[in-house]
Amino acid sequence: MCGIVGYVGKKRAAPLLLGALKKLEYRGYDSAGIAVLCGGLAVRKCAGEVSNLRSTASMEGTCGIGHTRWATHGGPTERNAHPHVWKRFAVVHNGIIENYQSLRAECEARGEEFYSETDSEVVAHLMEFYYAGDLLGALKETCARLKGSYALAVLCSERPGTIALARYKSPLVVGVGGGVWCASDIPAIAAKDRALYPLADGEFALLGDGAQFYGREGRIEKQPVGRDMSESIPLKRGYRHFMRKEIDEIPAVLAKCRPCALVSASFPGVRDGLAASSHITVVACGTAYHAGLAARCAFETLARVPCTVTVASEYRYADPVIGEGETVIAVSQSGETADTIAAAELARGCGARTVAVVNVTDSTLAGLCDDALPVSAGREIAVAATKSFNAQLMVLYTLAATLAEAKGRRGYGDLLKEMPELAAQTVSVGEGVRAWVAYFVSASSVYFIGRGADYVAALEGSLKLKEITYLPSEGYPAGELKHGTLALVEEGTPIVAVLTSERLAEKTMNAVHEVYARGARVFLITSLAEYAASKELTGAVVIPQCGEVFSPMLSVIPLQLLAYYVSVARGIDPDKPRNLAKSVTVE
Ligand code: M6R
Repeated sequence: MCGIVGYVGKKRAAPLLLGALKKLEYRGYDSAGIAVLCGGLAVRKCAGEVSNLRSTASMEGTCGIGHTRWATHGGPTERNAHPHVWKRFAVVHNGIIENYQSLRAECEARGEEFYSETDSEVVAHLMEFYYAGDLLGALKETCARLKGSYALAVLCSERPGTIALARYKSPLVVGVGGGVWCASDIPAIAAKDRALYPLADGEFALLGDGAQFYGREGRIEKQPVGRDMSESIPLKRGYRHFMRKEIDEIPAVLAKCRPCALVSASFPGVRDGLAASSHITVVACGTAYHAGLAARCAFETLARVPCTVTVASEYRYADPVIGEGETVIAVSQSGETADTIAAAELARGCGARTVAVVNVTDSTLAGLCDDALPVSAGREIAVAATKSFNAQLMVLYTLAATLAEAKGRRGYGDLLKEMPELAAQTVSVGEGVRAWVAYFVSASSVYFIGRGADYVAALEGSLKLKEITYLPSEGYPAGELKHGTLALVEEGTPIVAVLTSERLAEKTMNAVHEVYARGARVFLITSLAEYAASKELTGAVVIPQCGEVFSPMLSVIPLQLLAYYVSVARGIDPDKPRNLAKSVTVE
């Protein structure tokens, strides 16, 4: 999964490509590269971030392509960086070519040489093989040989001023105005007076004086999409990292959601469809999966509707039983997560009603589901999801509250209206975790425990910590520790317990006593102040009460802050953890 960009116009391409690539780094930052047509093909590549790309000042051409990479095949090296070049062709690729080994063997049998370990390099070879003066024809023939997913931008040294594009299951958008552009997402190239044309699967384009679009059969006309230009790339505005800024934005994001009105008035189809559902399935990955787990507590406890939550990458190959009258909710910040898209496609194909809960409303997932509910978190830059999780919970809890109301269980919607204020208080008291950092910074492992909804918060707290601090960390049901994991607890092991359920408080405290007795340092996130003074605790943060079911929306906030401060203390950039990318558009 990577970001690609292209520009052809009257200005020097290199600086424009670099600027657009910076905006795409959320898709990967393992390596970067650009190719510009200036006489022949001029190529610059580097390992690491786009800012590492040097000596582009001498690249004079006005037509070029660029790439920022999240490594799938081959390490994050300069050699594996795109653009990949073979003879007359330079290619940037986002996606995975699943049959690249057999294609590469075919090329090598012709005596062609490869220099990288990537799946993408084979595309440049196929272009050279099929090219006989017809750039679009060669690209169509090349794509006919590919299995997998791709957004491709291709330069040919014999076609100055032209970029050829193809898209299949990886996003690609064309922009016309102030030159002709392409990119993996709209914000990278959005500008006033620039018309934007997302390509659909199986479509091609030639960019030059303007943009020409093609389907498999021939030329097609496309209409530009509307776009709110106010949604530009956010700035750090004095914050050291986007992640910390995005945590501070949680109260405002929750206030903006206005979900009750949203579901009832704007999406009656979703409300009525859910009300008629005998079963709800949530499919998602990572943090969005945890949002699904939290939603299950709400759907089942408040609305008494059975709910199953499945990791999307498992669901898509599990041959799931998709019953009549089932609603499948696909949750995703980006709306471009390949596994979640595939799971939603499968469910829809089997007749389920599909609802996307997405932050990016013009995403692939939003387009393919029957309905798309916006989570309205605003653009999230840090790789670690924070405000989007809280916003996803707001939408999902609202759905549950709406269903509960239809069954005569009222009042939950009013409780949700208080959440922005309670979240603001939680961000403030959550800063207390800074005093805990020294106990975590060199830990060999960390555990997060809780029961019910608190267990979901524990899972998300653990994911946050491991992805931006690289500390081994797990979330466990508090009652499950003693069935094995307790063996890993030793003197000084940090354990964070989440405790907001009065009903389950004594049960969770049993686990606290058990780990303390074995030498653990215990830290507590609780809405029940009476437990904060327990002698076993090294630290406690008391957060506002908001009811057991909705509690992850608040209890996760100190956990997000803990991960952030430990990451900074370990000298890591929390916005760009190693090996990860914001949007995972490959399997
Ligand atoms: O864009 P999505 O919500 O579909 O992304 C799903 C996961 O890749 C994402 O939540 C990931 O786990 C985050 N890095 C977690 O912070």
